[in-house]
Amino acid sequence: MKNLERDVVVIGAGPSGLTAAYELSKAGKTVAVLEARDRVGGRTWTEQMDGATIEIGGQWISPDQTGLYSLIEELGIETFERYKQGKSVYRTEAGEAIVYEGDDFPVAESTVAEMNKLIELMNQLAAEMNPDKPWEHPRAAELDTISFHHFLRNNSDDETACNNIGLFIAGGMLTKPAHAFSALQAVLMASSAGSFDNLVDEDFILDRRMKTSMQGVSIEVAKRLPEETLFLNNPVLKLEWSDEGVVAHGADVTVKAKKVVLAVPPNLYSRISYFPPLPRWQQVTHQHQSMGLVIKVHAVYETPFWREEGLSGTCFGPNHLVQEIYDNTFDGEETGTLVGFISDVEADKVWSLESDEERKEVVLKAMAEFLGEKTLDPKVFYLSDFGSEEWTRGAYATSYDLGGLHRFGPTQNDNVGPIYFSSSDLAGEGFQHVDGAVRMGRRSAARILAELDGTSYDESYDGVATLTEKANA
Ligand code: FDA
Repeated sequence: MKNLERDVVVIGAGPSGLTAAYELSKAGKTVAVLEARDRVGGRTWTEQMDGATIEIGGQWISPDQTGLYSLIEELGIETFERYKQGKSVYRTEAGEAIVYEGDDFPVAESTVAEMNKLIELMNQLAAEMNPDKPWEHPRAAELDTISFHHFLRNNSDDETACNNIGLFIAGGMLTKPAHAFSALQAVLMASSAGSFDNLVDEDFILDRRMKTSMQGVSIEVAKRLPEETLFLNNPVLKLEWSDEGVVAHGADVTVKAKKVVLAVPPNLYSRISYFPPLPRWQQVTHQHQSMGLVIKVHAVYETPFWREEGLSGTCFGPNHLVQEIYDNTFDGEETGTLVGFISDVEADKVWSLESDEERKEVVLKAMAEFLGEKTLDPKVFYLSDFGSEEWTRGAYATSYDLGGLHRFGPTQNDNVGPIYFSSSDLAGEGFQHVDGAVRMGRRSAARILAELDGTSYDESYDGVATLTEKANA
């Protein structure tokens, strides 16, 4: 057992924990990062499969994600644009695949009008919200105690419009059925991305990717940490704490520190035994944040055959097993990669199938209903399975149960003595995204520095500038 003494110990080497560690070490503090897995990156993870680059976890960046943009600028990481040229495919409830162009789904004019009405309503609600404080929205309690499913139907009689709008937040983002989270949670998702318009515009929200891959961002940050800082294969299962500091117990490293950044997803807080136990409020709060569940399907072909047919690879099917598909070919690769998404109750169905062969057959058949027979024969087929990853337990991220956001949210970012919580799932802007993880990492570092150095913390700091830039501003 290695016994270390540091100013700060960080638990979790995902983008949030690593950003916090990087900022703290640049500010001259000694840091140790204890990571459960044998790799960095957490919910961002890249593998090579038969020559193709597969982003198993997070991958896209949108123009408003300026926290992440400032970090990659600092690291010298470039981005490339997702392939967007060509027409898209929409699968109707009756199972017809319609090729279309433009922003509107090819549905009845009255449905388009209803969808636009709902989009406008969500835009208004999002504009009234400070994403850092969604519980201060004038209608917070009302919106948090109605499910998004029922909220949509209270505002429109058009079932197709409700399903289509529901897709953008339910299957598309929170990866829970729309009856399982509140309208306030849905408005937060929109507000965190700038507007609901941004969220429903796939060319905005899924704009670009990292040339290093998204896990590459964490790898580059890790390279810049001082020696003897990062310790992989060190799950922390026991944390002693008092006003004087903490002792974090990893598998073969124990760290005594003045402060701890707990940079694990909120659903895993209770995986750790705390001595003494956390206060009542946190013990209760942490039971109300749970992971969604989505399967990311990767299918690699000899060529991106859909492009030759004038298609972008973008497909939507709100009532289908595979609800979204995109061209996911990595920069410079000649093969063509499609990524599909199977969310919540549809994911349950896929995992309940008997064998990998059956899953492959069912999923490819569903994808072929959008893009034709050639879809059935990929050279690589892989399903991202974060639900069975012990150190994540779902995907993409955690959200509150009905009523939880306005009840527990206001204190979710309060530190408990020396313990600071840092996760993309606690962010306002960039909520549930790598951008939010970076912003939270910087904000946690800033709060700890203020405590350690006896200076004041600027509550308005949004985590976009690095702490050095902020100090020099
Ligand atoms: P994250 O979960 O990444 O890291 C936490 C770390 O803590 C992990 O490394 C874990 O192993 C470790 N840990 C847990 N318990 C521990 C313990 N007890 N002791 C030590 N270590 C412990 N975002 C985006 O911006 N664009 C996108 O396209 C997508 N797409 C996407 C797809 C999929 C399939 C997933 C799963 C997620 C995304 N995301 C995304 C979300 C994005 O990946 C996510 O928001 C960030 O990775 C969160 O970063 P954090 O550092 O907060 O947690």
